[in-house]
Amino acid sequence: MSTILDIEKIRSQFPTLHKTVNGKPLIYFDNGATSQTPQCVIDRLKTYYEDENSNIHRGVHTLSQEATAAYEDSRRKLQEYLNASREEEVLFTKGTTDAINLVANGFSRSILKSGDEILISSMEHHSNIVPWQMACDYTGAILRVIPINDEGEILFEEYQKLLSTKTKLVAITHVSNTLGTINPIKEMIHAAHQINIPVLIDGAQSIPHMKVDVQELDCEFYAFSGHKMFGPTGIGVLYGKYEWLEQLPPYQGGGDMIKNVSFERTTYNDLPHKFEAGTPNIAGGIGLGAAVDYLNTLDWKNIQIHENLLLDYATEHINNIDGIQIIGQAQRKAGVLSFVHQKAHHYDLGTLLDQLGVAVRTGHHCTEPLMHRFNVTGTTRASFALYNTKEEIDIFIDALKRALKMLL
Ligand code: ALA
Repeated sequence: MSTILDIEKIRSQFPTLHKTVNGKPLIYFDNGATSQTPQCVIDRLKTYYEDENSNIHRGVHTLSQEATAAYEDSRRKLQEYLNASREEEVLFTKGTTDAINLVANGFSRSILKSGDEILISSMEHHSNIVPWQMACDYTGAILRVIPINDEGEILFEEYQKLLSTKTKLVAITHVSNTLGTINPIKEMIHAAHQINIPVLIDGAQSIPHMKVDVQELDCEFYAFSGHKMFGPTGIGVLYGKYEWLEQLPPYQGGGDMIKNVSFERTTYNDLPHKFEAGTPNIAGGIGLGAAVDYLNTLDWKNIQIHENLLLDYATEHINNIDGIQIIGQAQRKAGVLSFVHQKAHHYDLGTLLDQLGVAVRTGHHCTEPLMHRFNVTGTTRASFALYNTKEEIDIFIDALKRALKMLL
């Protein structure tokens, strides 16, 4: 296959891509759920446990100091990768969900009052809906939802109408995990800033597909997960502007997030430690740094050309199959292809595709309100990553046709 990426070299770095599943070579199209892990990240995790395993920020002994240095080095790699202005603006979390909960908890306890509004969109993942509903329950604030059109794009004028002095935060996904829509977040951030409203971006689905510059975006918060960007599970990042992180109260109490504790009073640690209570996922943090090293070896411009080619190719071929409707046809999309068939259930399709070696996700994709918007119970979703190929799409389309033949 002709491609602008050295795809064979890239694929050779991901052991899982060479597996067989149900006797067939694995075609892994469930990257929206989690990406596969390159050997360099696996090796880094192994080295940590073999050579450096120790607790951090609390040991005078050499091993602890080495582990602390590796963990903090990883934070600096992420700072550089995101172009954050300070390393204290990079908080390690369990993942995107944890990062959004951290902000929602802080807003509930220090900012939101009854009648205030939080603005989200119709295409949010549950992790950018439920924490805000909980915040609203706790404070009496109101959740407002930006509508989308039938292609799955934000209605920008409706968004502007919803922005008001009551709005205390806009929380919006960068890329929809179900539709693939790339939202115009720069314009949305700019519009919110016109009336001094801070913006949180759920970057879980954008970070594996594009280079993100938080200073250029000028968002107040940006949340993402390691495991969707070729890193380990159980680790993620909340980027927050320094003054906002200073302003928010700590999320959880415990070791490491304190300066002094007495039974009468506790003083909190400086950023970023104020938000990192307890022993963190040390191996995960270091492994995420290795994933950043890996991403730094790649050319983002070529990755985007490659992923767009994959998406266009798959879209064209799937559109030729009778009875299929693509859910999510935005002008600007990342490599996500969700579809329904008028007669075949998504669950049956996913099960048969698996028998043929193709891994896709089925169901509501943790976006139940979006399913209601499109009047479907679920979709079959193929989500691509930089290591996927046109040949895999050919096999997938062929498998899909065979599965439909069996079902109809
Ligand atoms: N949010 C992940 C997905 O879209 C799990 O599959």
